[in-house]
Amino acid sequence: MPSMLSTTDKKGPSRPAIYRSGFKCKGCNKSYSSKDIYLDLTVTAGSRDYTEVKPARTELFRSPLVSFLYERGWRQNFNRSGFPGPDEEFQMAQAYFKSAEGGLLVDVSCGSGLFSRKFAEAGTYSGVIALDFSENMLRQCYDFIKSDGTLLTTNLALVRADVSRLPFSSGSVDAVHAGAALHCWPSPSNAVAEITRILRSGGVFVGTTFLRYNSSTPWILRSLRERFLQNYNYLTEEEIKDLCTSCGLTNYSSKVQQSFIMFSAQKPQN
Ligand SMILES: C[S@@+](CC[C@H](N)C(=O)[O-])C[C@H]1O[C@@H](n2cnc3c(N)ncnc32)[C@H](O)[C@@H]1O
Repeated sequence: MPSMLSTTDKKGPSRPAIYRSGFKCKGCNKSYSSKDIYLDLTVTAGSRDYTEVKPARTELFRSPLVSFLYERGWRQNFNRSGFPGPDEEFQMAQAYFKSAEGGLLVDVSCGSGLFSRKFAEAGTYSGVIALDFSENMLRQCYDFIKSDGTLLTTNLALVRADVSRLPFSSGSVDAVHAGAALHCWPSPSNAVAEITRILRSGGVFVGTTFLRYNSSTPWILRSLRERFLQNYNYLTEEEIKDLCTSCGLTNYSSKVQQSFIMFSAQKPQN
């Protein structure tokens, strides 16, 4: 993994050449560009005329304003739906990741790096990759890293990629975290299948999301949510478990608090 933040200078961290110039894949000959701050490993990286628009729930987070506001009030609102808050969510995730300690962790759909920074700071992993589709979220993440001196020496890399096409070889990752993200993905099934592919045998996936409803939601609210949330990927507890299991993950477990769910599942041991 390229170490992004190895040295410092007055202007901020300096990065290896790969971050300044991009690179060409030796296997398929495709060129990937670099935006200096992060590596762009999306399929469309480097294309000059072709553009692609993703669903609204993905595009929303590409906005500079939403990226700026995300850790300045937006994320705090999740507490009203039962999210325990970043510190507790981080501790809960770390407990699930015990068997992945010392390995490589990918924080998929990291946003502005709220959890990537905590994972890197904890020093629990050999490397942490903060990955998101939003260029502006990654820029915001970089700004937070620059302003926190302690993060400059951690092994944290920033990558732009689509969760439906993760730029890692099969079985190469020890842990995948995806905070408050599943409901934003264009296709949760493609995403979980990709996450399963990149995890090593015994590797752990931990995610959080908003539930469409839970077992204690009154039936009147359930039918309203069924009706109005059907265009979003707000799943039920049963659907999330089924999704993980049908993608080949095992040892599923979850914790629920109002609409908040943290779930964990593991790639089967060989
Ligand atoms: C609600 S934010 C979650 C940020 C952070 N993980 C947290 O726990 O607060 C959802 C993130 O999912 C990202 N996202 C949406 N669609 C994506 C896709 N197709 N591939 C990768 N990330 C995506 C968005 O850019 C956004 O940063």
